[in-house]
Amino acid sequence: VALQPMNTFGIAARAQRLVRLRSVDDLLGLMASADWRQPSAEHPVFVLGGGSNLVLTGDLKALVLKVEIAGRRLVEETARGWLVEAGGGEGWHDFVRWTLEQGWPGLENMALIPGTVGAAPVQNIGAYGVELQDRFHSLDAMDLDTGRVFSLDAAQCGFGYRDSVFKHAPSDDRSFGLKGRALITRVRFWLPKPWKPVLGYLDLERKMDETGIRQPDARQIFDWVVAIRRAKLPDPAVIGNAGSFFKNPTVTPEQCADIIARDPKVVHYPMPDGSIKLAAGWLIDACGWKGKTMGHAGVYEKQALVLVNKGDAEHPCTGGEVMTLAKAIQTSVYERFGIRLEPEPVVL
Ligand code: EPU
Repeated sequence: VALQPMNTFGIAARAQRLVRLRSVDDLLGLMASADWRQPSAEHPVFVLGGGSNLVLTGDLKALVLKVEIAGRRLVEETARGWLVEAGGGEGWHDFVRWTLEQGWPGLENMALIPGTVGAAPVQNIGAYGVELQDRFHSLDAMDLDTGRVFSLDAAQCGFGYRDSVFKHAPSDDRSFGLKGRALITRVRFWLPKPWKPVLGYLDLERKMDETGIRQPDARQIFDWVVAIRRAKLPDPAVIGNAGSFFKNPTVTPEQCADIIARDPKVVHYPMPDGSIKLAAGWLIDACGWKGKTMGHAGVYEKQALVLVNKGDAEHPCTGGEVMTLAKAIQTSVYERFGIRLEPEPVVL
């Protein structure tokens, strides 16, 4: 099966076997069939959503489970908020737009993020001051080892910055890890009343100044976020990419003071726990990478944190070229700032 149309980087790779799952029953049927093997090192299974946070460096030996479970509904409305549910295969952005159309605000800052609803909790997606964990209620998943359906609340998901229990193997230093073991079938969101706008992000403050609109409604914020993203992030339908390629690193105040002494303009944000988050895009930009190309992989000219496919449909970049470029960036950022950047997408 050709995976090129199923990853937003547009990398050409193949999977030996791919099964599309439109329902939990499809999954149960697959797991009851004679050719199902419990996931293991010998029989790897890979759960694929929208393929928007993925770098394929070769063909996949794994059985690929493409989650296409649809459905979205209001579970309940109370005086305190709306509880809304969507199937794991629903497109994230369409879901966000639909909730706003129904008059249930709360997800607007996360407009236009590529990918599916089921993949959103895995890396705790976030943008413009709101993270998935701020609106998350619970999810249903299938344990691919035991065939049991289970539910997790926010605490059990172990959310962190672009992190969750779904990114950790059981052997990691955690109470438990579900990497490679859980398939998220449905996700529920809690959208509290009264709705409060989140407008602290610099790009949104700029929009308020530009337009003179001081009290935007949720639909206005949605439109602003869409416009901001279109202006600085490449549309994966046009230029292959996987969003931010590195996480924004955190450093100690001492490390940060050290960098400021040499580079006073370094973009940094103090965190509630006393650490300082640095803008990885700024660090990469400062090393002169913006717009640079290596092989068929490049650094986006408007946002240095985004690596892009510089090939075309017939000669796309390879995952190897992307990783070679990523390593060169990591080396130069380390040599100049002493900071090790950590890739954000899943590299297979
Ligand atoms: N910057 C530069 N040069 C660049 C890029 C950025 O100087 O080439 C500076 C900007 O001027 C700005 C700062 O770095 O002052 C931060 O840039 P930006 O606001 O674009 O956000 P980011 O930190 O690069 C993060 C998320 C994005 C999310 C935006 C908005 C991560 C890894 N990335 O990017 O998420 O959309 O904030 O909230 O946390 C993603 O995860 O794939 C993603 C796109």
